[in-house]
This record gives sequence, structure tokens and C-alpha cells, in this order.
Amino acid sequence: MIPAEDVLSELAALRADDLPTHGGRTLAYVYDSALPGLDDLAARAHAMAASVNGLDPTAFPSLLRLENEVVATAARLLGGTSDTVGTVTSGGTESCLLAVLAARDAAPTTDAPSIVLPETAHAAFHKAAHYFGVRVVAVPVDPKTFRADPAAMAAAIDDTTVLVVVSAPSYAHGVVDPVAPIAAAAAERGVRCHVDACIGGWVLPFAPDAPPFDFSVPGVTSISVDLHKYAYAPKGTSVLLHANADLRRPQYFASAAWPGYTMLNSTTQSTRSGGPVAAAWAVLRHIGEDGYRSLAHTALAATRVIREGVEAIEGLRVLGEPDSTLLAFTADDVDVFVVADEMRARNWYVQPQFAHRSSPANLHLTVTAANAGAEEVFLADLRASVDAARAAGPADVPAEVVAFVQGLDPEALTPQEFAGLLAAAGLGGAGVLPERMAVVNTLLAAARPALRERLLVEFLGILYS
Ligand SMILES: Cc1ncc(COP(=O)(O)O)c(C=O)c1O
Repeated sequence: MIPAEDVLSELAALRADDLPTHGGRTLAYVYDSALPGLDDLAARAHAMAASVNGLDPTAFPSLLRLENEVVATAARLLGGTSDTVGTVTSGGTESCLLAVLAARDAAPTTDAPSIVLPETAHAAFHKAAHYFGVRVVAVPVDPKTFRADPAAMAAAIDDTTVLVVVSAPSYAHGVVDPVAPIAAAAAERGVRCHVDACIGGWVLPFAPDAPPFDFSVPGVTSISVDLHKYAYAPKGTSVLLHANADLRRPQYFASAAWPGYTMLNSTTQSTRSGGPVAAAWAVLRHIGEDGYRSLAHTALAATRVIREGVEAIEGLRVLGEPDSTLLAFTADDVDVFVVADEMRARNWYVQPQFAHRSSPANLHLTVTAANAGAEEVFLADLRASVDAARAAGPADVPAEVVAFVQGLDPEALTPQEFAGLLAAAGLGGAGVLPERMAVVNTLLAAARPALRERLLVEFLGILYS
């Protein structure tokens, strides 16, 4: 056997190449409360329940109790009533998947079910549609505010609609959709309305100017909120709330069609580790409502400072009016992908987002409490990065390579063409990423969405081989 300490050293060495998950330098994917001791508490709680199996809540009543308490806390925060029920899932995507599944299976009368969503809704809903055979009706948003257009959303609802989706806020731009008129339009047609508050649900209740988005809005039938985002719990927990148990029922699955144990599941998983829910429960209990209010105010204030600083940098423009702790900015005369590389060279990760409909290519920031106090350092490096990117000019990709990418047919892409593209993008055969990503991003941006999806899937296959 390899000694435990040696194995842990190996793991630590591997982890050293990752983006930092703490300290506010990674402005996507990770959420840092900066509270001392929180990680340790979560890790200890996780370890205490990691071997417990949520598959059978009668065998492990501790998990049942933890899950019911976590759901009750989320429901209280989000305007729930005594009828509100919920489920702890493995993450935002699973919560969104289950909201779509429950809506589809509650409406067996339509054999061509569809969901209506603003084109800014999270890709998790496209995944749900893909998995569950549901058609997506993506409705254009206001091109300036990036908020859903209530009239266009209402007009898109028809007899096949099983669910209307809104975001609070959207990931890409951090703006809250007009939930009230859209939920009302859905209710009028007898259709469910899901509020995707995966990323905002633990911040907006504490934001003084937040638009209404929760169960207090008539017509809202379900809400997703992730604990592994702004509740600062370790990865692996989200909550899907339904306004009542009837709405939740079709989400559940039972099978008596085999000779083994009773298969009865509330989520897509069957065996479920107790670790994530125990960790989330411990973090929620420790921080408490006042603690979250304070963390939300800290993150919101840091977002405001960063937003004002970004707007003061010549050539940069914040997209829309962010309502929460996320923002996106574009540049008029600088290649944002080069800016992202320049920031990376200064030890910041900012997330490139491709142009989509009315949204230009931009950089996304997920701001957390850990960014408080370091806003000016971030802004100084951003200013320097923009200057450097302006001086360097756009990523150097020959026009004929761009034309080649634009001409590729995603359905007929050959392994040779893909290998040629990888080489043009400076990607090694093993899929190792270059230090500067602007060329890769420029090539991906040139590809139509269907081709981009195909290229990314090919690339993933190479990474995992
Ligand atoms: C609004 C929104 N919905 C859904 C998700 C998906 O969450 P997850 O990555 O936990 O699956 C995210 C993730 O950022 C999100 O911001």
C-alpha cells in the first residue's frame, strides 16, 4: 500500500496546477465567503456523512432530517408558504432538469411538449430539453437590458407549453427577468413558471433593490437555488422548491419492475452521498440568516465598486444593469479574449463569453465576498490588461483559417479536419491548453453554435482519453 501521507502529497501536487478556489482571483466557477474556519467545518460535516446513502431515507433518518431542514430554510428565504416543498439535488443543472421533467410529466395530454424561455436562460434548460425530448422555444430578450420581454414571452406560450422559465438573475449578464408579468401570463394559460435563481437565490433576498422574483410573485410554481454558489457550501448541492406537493410529485420516480430493493428516487441519482447535504446543512446553520445578509451586502458592495471601476476604463462597457453579484462587460476597440489572457498573466481568471444574438463577446465576472477589499487591485490589473491588449491588437488568426472554420459542416466534420483545427489553435494532440487562449476563443467564436458544440464535444473526448 502507498502510505496515506504520500497519496495526499500527490493530490496536493496535482491541485497546485488548478485555478485558486479562494482569495477572489478566480471570477467564475468558485464562491469564497472568506469566512475563517468555514471550509474546515464543511469538510468535517462532509466526512461525517459521506458514507451515508440517501437512497433510503428510512434507513438513514439523519439525512432525511438534514434535507428537510435545508429545504425549509430555502423555502423561508424565498417566500415559501406552509405548502412549499422541495428536494436537495446535486447542483443547479439537476434542479433545472427536474423542474422540466416534473412539468413534462404533469402534462401528459400534450405529445409534443415545449418550454418557453428567454434566450438568456441557462444552458441547463437546453440540456433538459435534449434529455427529455422537449422542444425549446427561445424568445429574444431586450437587446439593451438583456431582460426577458414579457409580451414576447406571453405570445410564445401555446397549447404545447409545459413550462415557462425566467432567471433571477441570468448567468451571462446578471440581470433579473421581469418575473411578475411572465408568471402571470403563464398562470393565465395554466402553465407552470420556473424561476431559475440558482445563482441569485441566496443573494437577492438580501439586496435592498432586488426586483420581485420569489414565491410571493403570483404564478411562480418552482424555484431553483444552489447552495454551492452563494450559500458558500461545498460543491454538490442545490435545492429545487415547488409551490406544493402536487407540483413536485411527477419529479419522483419509483420502480417495482425488478426483483431487487424498492427503487424510489427524488432526483436523477439513486445512491446519494450524505456528504454534500450534511456539509451544506452545517454551513447554513453556522452562517445563519444574519451572516448571509452580511455576506450578500459585502459581495453586492464589491460588485458595485468593480462595476463603476469597469465603466471608468476607456473602451469598456458593462452590459445591461446588473441586479446581483454578476456582471459582464464588452469592449469597443479591444479584443476581450486578449484582455482575458492579459488578466490571466496577472493571475486573475475572468470568463470569456461568446457573442450570442444581441449579446456581444464579453467577459463575465462572478463576484463573491472574497473580492471585498481587493477591488482596486483587480481594477488596476484590468486597466493594465486593457492597455496591453490594445497595444497587442486582436488575436492573430489568419483570415483563411477563420474562413475554413466558418465553412465546416458540423455533421460531416472528419477526424483529419478536427486534428488540423487543433493544430491551428495551438492545441497539442493530448488536448493540453495553451497558456494564451485568445486564438482558441477566436476560432470558436468564428464557428456557428452547432459547429462550436461539435468541436467542444470532440475536444472533451480528447481530454478524457
Ligand atoms: C442561473 C443558473 N442556472 C443554472 C446553473 C447551473 O448550475 P450548476 O453549474 O450547479 O449545474 C447556473 C450555473 O452557474 C446558473 O448560473
